Amino acid sequence: MERSGIAMGIVYLEKERLFKLDTPHTTYIIGIVGEEGFLGHAYYGKTIKDAQGASALMRIYENPFTPDTNARDRLSFMDCFPTEYSGHGVGDYRESSIRVTTKGGYNAVSLAYVSHEIYKGKRKLPGLPATFGSEEEVTTLAIVCEDKAIGLTAVLEYSVFETVDAIARSARILNDSKEAVVLNKVMSGCLDMDNRDFEVITLHGSWARERHMERKQLGHGKFLVSSLRGEGGHQEHQFMALLDKHATQTTGDVYGFHLVYSGNFRMLAEVNQFDSVRVMGGIEPEGFRWLLKPGESFQSPEMIYAYSSQGLGGMSRTFHDLYRNHLIRSPYKDQKRPILINNWEATYFDFDEQKLLDIAKEASKLGIEMLVMDDGWFGNRFDDNRALGDWQVNEEKLKGGLKKLVDGVNVLGMKFGIWFEPEMVSPESKLYREHPDWAIAIPGRTPGLARNQYVLDISRKEVRDYILEMMFKVLHSANISYVKWDMNRPLSDLGSACLQAENQGELYHRYVLGMYEMQERLLAEFPDLLLENCSGGGARFDPGMLYYSPQIWCSDDTDAIERLQIQEGTALIYPLSAMGAHVSVCPNHTVGRNTPFETRGYVALAGTFGYELDITKLTDEDKAMVKLQTAMYHKFNDLVREGDYYRIASYRENHLYDCFQVVSKDKKRSLVFYVQVLNEANKKSRILKLQGLEEGLTYTVKELDMNVADSEDMVKDMQKAFSGELLMNAGLHFERMWGDFRAKVIVLEA
Ligand code: GLA
Repeated sequence: MERSGIAMGIVYLEKERLFKLDTPHTTYIIGIVGEEGFLGHAYYGKTIKDAQGASALMRIYENPFTPDTNARDRLSFMDCFPTEYSGHGVGDYRESSIRVTTKGGYNAVSLAYVSHEIYKGKRKLPGLPATFGSEEEVTTLAIVCEDKAIGLTAVLEYSVFETVDAIARSARILNDSKEAVVLNKVMSGCLDMDNRDFEVITLHGSWARERHMERKQLGHGKFLVSSLRGEGGHQEHQFMALLDKHATQTTGDVYGFHLVYSGNFRMLAEVNQFDSVRVMGGIEPEGFRWLLKPGESFQSPEMIYAYSSQGLGGMSRTFHDLYRNHLIRSPYKDQKRPILINNWEATYFDFDEQKLLDIAKEASKLGIEMLVMDDGWFGNRFDDNRALGDWQVNEEKLKGGLKKLVDGVNVLGMKFGIWFEPEMVSPESKLYREHPDWAIAIPGRTPGLARNQYVLDISRKEVRDYILEMMFKVLHSANISYVKWDMNRPLSDLGSACLQAENQGELYHRYVLGMYEMQERLLAEFPDLLLENCSGGGARFDPGMLYYSPQIWCSDDTDAIERLQIQEGTALIYPLSAMGAHVSVCPNHTVGRNTPFETRGYVALAGTFGYELDITKLTDEDKAMVKLQTAMYHKFNDLVREGDYYRIASYRENHLYDCFQVVSKDKKRSLVFYVQVLNEANKKSRILKLQGLEEGLTYTVKELDMNVADSEDMVKDMQKAFSGELLMNAGLHFERMWGDFRAKVIVLEA
């Protein structure tokens, strides 16, 4: 993103007691108010160069005034003051950011400003994934607040990025008192603004139907999305955006909020009696209870704020840039990933080494670069009723062992990847027989099964060590380049055999910390490993997991048409480079739909790209197309991975067609993906306005043609050229195609 010429970073305006936080195009203003040091929110929006007088935006000069001058109406002040971190039980009747129980059993907490520090760079959050950046890229403000009555300190951290319009927030709570307190709730961020008739967007879903965008009016009262499943889940997403009623992809104010966390979450918006809106995000307080002993601290996960004055598209591109440059750490983040073929939909559990080698042999001829062996290679895992936890190769299936198979695949010039579900145990497994207490369960209550499996208590170090040791043994035994880390059931019956009664309420969060630690150790042991996270499809597609894996399996639904909505919702916040997308067979295994092979390819090429089918059974015609698709991947993946994403039209909205664009950062190249889902009789060609191009540049229009014998002939020059001005203001023609589910990819080059 270009600089706006405004000095970026954070300043403290001493006279007005204001903090001014600037990103390239946005400003965020915090004020310290009154003798008590109420920490207030003054402004978040477009850049304001001169913040003089911004204190007035907190309305502290209006009735009921601060308690300094109007002590008799303190509660009225507390209940309308726009705060940066709301307390509990002392007069702010809106949603609290923090709630505690003291030794005496009291719950009230109220935090006031004590001191602050502004520093270059950004500290790591202990045990948690978080955005990062060098001293040149990030500036951080740490505000120390205190509740003197109970001796509790909160350090609120705000980091701004030099080239991305995002702010990262978190809270660290320290117990400075001599008595333990219980934290019942610690949210990551709280933002109070005037409600400007906002609408709200969330990402809702289910298994095989993840992250569908839902937009609606925000009304009085509280609206929240949350998870109690121990992971983000398929159902709701740790994201919320507030936007102008008339905001579009290209216009209007949009405030996006995203939590960098993979466990129980709550994202909330509350509109109160004075039509102000409070947005909040953090760990879901239900099921959370953390004992904080004297001297101990608790770190909240990080919440990202992204404001755009240029509609949803602006917000999406901010998240994409932030995550690509400041969250994903993998060495693969800026690299083309090997085109993979996964055997899950090809064979399910019914495979042996020969079947896999046959698939690899055929795949290698067509340009596929890696074979991924999915579920079913270990213990006596002949179906999904058994063997999770027994991470030893089943040599009945893989005769000659894993190394022989991997070597055989490597000889074909292909890499090899493998599936694990490390957090789980089947009741019918050696592991469970030996360590029944390692499963999460409550004494005296039979724990619920899901997919016939239990969840391991990975809050325990010995459990993590044991599982990792088994995994490392397998991974060291052969030349393995990739791991798919799966998680196929939510948590229930929360109980740890190792935690004291007073700590049992910590299990949900300790579980997530344990999982993060395991992934960290896996990557430390195998720094070149390409890790892909997965959870029953896309239940763990969240920013926390991106810190560990540069790509995440988007959904078990591989139907190209269903994927349009899933991938639109996902790309609202995530870069295309992170979206696991594969071509599978028809009729599709989830919905039974038949879609042209070409369309399936184009839809998957907008993600990480791979195949999930028995390639030995494809027709020659489809095999020829695989060759073209893999060639297309190599030609265009740099652009898909690194480019800016623009949403042109949404099948979700119009029920007829879908269109999006990626544009190179220098604006010289663009790919336009267009899917005509349903054809209509006797209609003219469609003209769609493109975005993100340079008005003054002339673009030649080329079209991908998958009906050619050689990939050299695949990009067809249409002998047409248009100015960026014309393409964006008037539009580009899309001819009607014969039939449904037809797709086209246009290449623009300046
Ligand atoms: C989950 C994943 C699938 C596959 C199966 C294996 O459902 O999402 O891709 O790995 O598990 O059991």
